[in-house]
Amino acid sequence: MSRIQTSVTRLLGVRSPIVAAPMAGASTVRLALEASRGGGFGFTAAGYGDAQMLHSDLQVARTVSSVEMRHGLPIGVGFLGWQLDQQPSALDMLRTVRNSDVQAVWFAFGKDLGRWINHVRELDSHADDGRKTIIFVQVNSLREALVAVHEWKVDVLVAQGIESGGHGNGSAPSTFTLVSSILSALPHSGPPVLAAGGLANGTHAAAYLTLGCAGAVFGTRFLLTPESLYTDAQKAALISAGPESTVRTMAFDQARGTLGWPNGVDGRAIRNETVADVEAGVDMQEVKKKFQEAVNGGDPTRMLVWAGEGVHLMREIKGAKVLVEEIHSEMVLALESAGLLVQHD
Ligand SMILES: Cc1cc2nc3c(=O)[nH]c(=O)nc-3n(C[C@H](O)[C@H](O)[C@H](O)COP(=O)(O)O)c2cc1C
Repeated sequence: MSRIQTSVTRLLGVRSPIVAAPMAGASTVRLALEASRGGGFGFTAAGYGDAQMLHSDLQVARTVSSVEMRHGLPIGVGFLGWQLDQQPSALDMLRTVRNSDVQAVWFAFGKDLGRWINHVRELDSHADDGRKTIIFVQVNSLREALVAVHEWKVDVLVAQGIESGGHGNGSAPSTFTLVSSILSALPHSGPPVLAAGGLANGTHAAAYLTLGCAGAVFGTRFLLTPESLYTDAQKAALISAGPESTVRTMAFDQARGTLGWPNGVDGRAIRNETVADVEAGVDMQEVKKKFQEAVNGGDPTRMLVWAGEGVHLMREIKGAKVLVEEIHSEMVLALESAGLLVQHD
């Protein structure tokens, strides 16, 4: 397998600049480990959980990957900033991550991410192994990117555009525009920038590499793996989605009661009856009741299926390791083909 070398593959010590995004309610440590085994780098998500849940997840990861532990546990953990802000065991969660030798953390969607980043750095400085946790921060605007780089001095910047699946800022530019504006504003010595949002295959990832990104983040694509927590019904909805099937909405957060996101954040999901009811002004108690019934009964017409705009190009379920290998091969092919366009007279 050819290696693709960028600043982020060097930082992570991996052969492919493909990152499996942390996805609350969908990622697992097994998904993250398999993505890393495929040559990329996988994240699991702390999501709405607490220190105890994270501890048992990471115990499993350490057990199954004991052979690969020489450079730390080869996965990352993604945190939702606003959940940490209200989680009594937040500091324990960060300590658990550090004590489990997790290589990287990812922060997004918080009012004060700098506070949590400082905690991670303090934990690093008090440890006696000299290892530094690699800090990823996901941003939705150039303004956020500049704070992350200049104030928090993050190690990796994830530029998440409006096409992305799951939560993001509803006013974010397209991934292409966001990446371009961030790359042109950062100094050459700035951190690696990864593109996130709407990517479905290796050709997409290669395009972002030629734009100047150091890597590519895939979320929705990894929902279609046996390792994701998505149900068969949710996966079937993803596979049958068309180019106009998704919508940015707060309907599902209202229906399931996950409110508290920073201003401007909503989420991209497959449009269905739950969204239609909220848009039509149906009483929220009624929406919640029907949504809960749909969750219990696996009703595909009302359930929640987060998905990015690239979903209509995804048609198969396959293991996360094979998926990374396949996306990587597509990237290699696309990058080599791009090189052939240049003719020196
Ligand atoms: C089901 C799902 C859950 C997500 N959960 C999180 C999360 O917990 N933290 C986070 O920073 N981003 C989360 N995201 C966003 C991803 O990090 C990533 O930016 C996004 O999936 C990229 O767009 P794509 O889905 O079009 O590939 C989630 C996305 C999905 C699809």
